Amino acid sequence: MAELPSADNSIETIDPRRTVAELALEHAAAAAVFRRHRIDYCCHGEVALAEACRERGLDLSAVTAELDAAVRRRPQSDEVDPRTLATAALIDHIVTRHHEYLREALPPLRPLAAKVERVHGAHNEKLFTVREVLEELAETLEPHLDEEEESLFPRMKSADRDDERIGRDLVAARDEHLQVGSLLEQLTDATDAFHVPEWACGSYRALFRELEALTADVLRHIHLENHVLMPRFPVKER
Ligand SMILES: [Fe+2]
Ligand SMILES: [Fe+2]
Repeated sequence: MAELPSADNSIETIDPRRTVAELALEHAAAAAVFRRHRIDYCCHGEVALAEACRERGLDLSAVTAELDAAVRRRPQSDEVDPRTLATAALIDHIVTRHHEYLREALPPLRPLAAKVERVHGAHNEKLFTVREVLEELAETLEPHLDEEEESLFPRMKSADRDDERIGRDLVAARDEHLQVGSLLEQLTDATDAFHVPEWACGSYRALFRELEALTADVLRHIHLENHVLMPRFPVKER
């Protein structure tokens, strides 16, 4: 087993005993490294980096070195730390930055995926799965955004908040996040991690580029809800 590098609180050094969710919160640049190695910091973020690497058969020292380099290249200082935002401001940030993006990005992707499937499905049968998973993702996410904006978020912002009710709603929201996380995994598999073959046309390239951007954005979005917003409220287990 790889030896753990020593713990150190300096900004450049990644401590592999920290959870991947914590590292993604502390270092904005870590998310891209996690995505590249398919380390789930969003729905299964409560595991230590060392454990996450072991589970995926990754070389811990190599991943730690990559994280260190990414953090050095992109210092945290120019990023707003979402943990410092008050709950109402955090919710507004999630809605304007992530919900509005999805409401714009999702609708045109569905016909684009259908077109690419129709034209190129014979060359790559995984394009059928891409289209199917994207449809399921849209059908899961759209009502989830509505529910958060119309019910959960206003309850969370209310001066007279009902923690009992919020706690029950959070259980349902967390289940939906798991479902979305699993669909993103399926999408990453079906697109071979968004790899575009040489023969791909412009529509194929645009589709994969948009799907990769959408996946990165949804991971960040759910990560903020799971690890910054939800811990501010008591969750009521069934
Ligand atoms: Fe959301
Ligand atoms: Fe959500």
